[in-house]
Amino acid sequence: MHITAMPTPATVAPSIPYDRIRAVEWLDGSIRLIDQRLLPGKFEHLTLHTLAEAVHAIRDMAVRGAPAIGITAAYAVVLAARARYTENPGNWQAALVPDLHMLAEARPTAVNLRWAVERMRALSAQLSGDPLPALLAEAQRIHAEDIAANHRMGELGAALIEPGSGVLTHCNTGALATGGYGTALGVVRAAYAAQRLNAVYADETRPWLQGARLTAWELVQEGIPVTVIADSAGAQLMRENRVRWVIVGADRIAANGDTANKIGTYNTAIAARHHGVRFMVVAPISTVDMATPDGAHIPIEQRAESEVLNFAGQRTAPEGARAWNPAFDVTPADLIDAIVTERGVVLSPTREKLAALMRA
Ligand code: MRU
Repeated sequence: MHITAMPTPATVAPSIPYDRIRAVEWLDGSIRLIDQRLLPGKFEHLTLHTLAEAVHAIRDMAVRGAPAIGITAAYAVVLAARARYTENPGNWQAALVPDLHMLAEARPTAVNLRWAVERMRALSAQLSGDPLPALLAEAQRIHAEDIAANHRMGELGAALIEPGSGVLTHCNTGALATGGYGTALGVVRAAYAAQRLNAVYADETRPWLQGARLTAWELVQEGIPVTVIADSAGAQLMRENRVRWVIVGADRIAANGDTANKIGTYNTAIAARHHGVRFMVVAPISTVDMATPDGAHIPIEQRAESEVLNFAGQRTAPEGARAWNPAFDVTPADLIDAIVTERGVVLSPTREKLAALMRA
């Protein structure tokens, strides 16, 4: 379904082409989300009034994508602090501690969630009096910084792509997964605007179909041609020389450059290396976790078996079959040709190069 009546949110910069969608907004004292579970069939908003509702929305994938859940969490801290301050103006910070813990634990792999909660916690510890104005301003800064980072990464990543290239992307890393514009999909947007792309392929991304449902929806909204492939078609796509780059996002980049991203990313990186296709990871600095030494230390979220055993609400595997359902995998740094951040591009990432980037 093509949605013609999509409202233009206040944070959209009219000067940037292909940047019209906002998944998360602060509106009238609440969080307003596009309910991503319903796309592309229905475009509906979900309004969150409490931190508990935000935790549920993050766990249940109404909002997903590492930066978008971080931004939602930042706004959720505002909701929680407002409630705790109203209950007990003298002791609201102590009452907030379990709230922050519950929020940070909502999903384990995306480090942006903990990063945003920690940034809000650090500010809240310094406040006295009504915390709402300062915390809301901080959450809005986190949101605006993410959009600006995405625009910058779009420019930097697009510059790596030779005109006339086909690209393959995995999962959804677009406006829906971020504050706006997207990371890997921001590079696709910028490269398309610069007329460097001759084709964009999107992995469907089992089991949640973020590629088929969300990436394809975003690109259709923007008028950017997109071709969806079954996840298992990627290697054949590369053998037929249809793509020069695989461009993906990240949920966490460890200090040595190992990168956790949506399950299936690792398969695609192996196929890319075999076929001489280059592999680009696009992620803001808030996704780089120098406290995690390498990929083996990244916690991988395990999700419900039912997500694999069923399709569109129908059981597809026989009763009695079990499922193994890791939501993410880790691509080792040596399969990555470029990590693009808002601070710069790291080619053939190593621990030393990432440390230098973080110091810059
Ligand atoms: O389970 P999801 O949909 O939250 O997984 C999302 C991804 O893996 C994205 O690639 C990643 O968060 C980067 S989004 C800019």
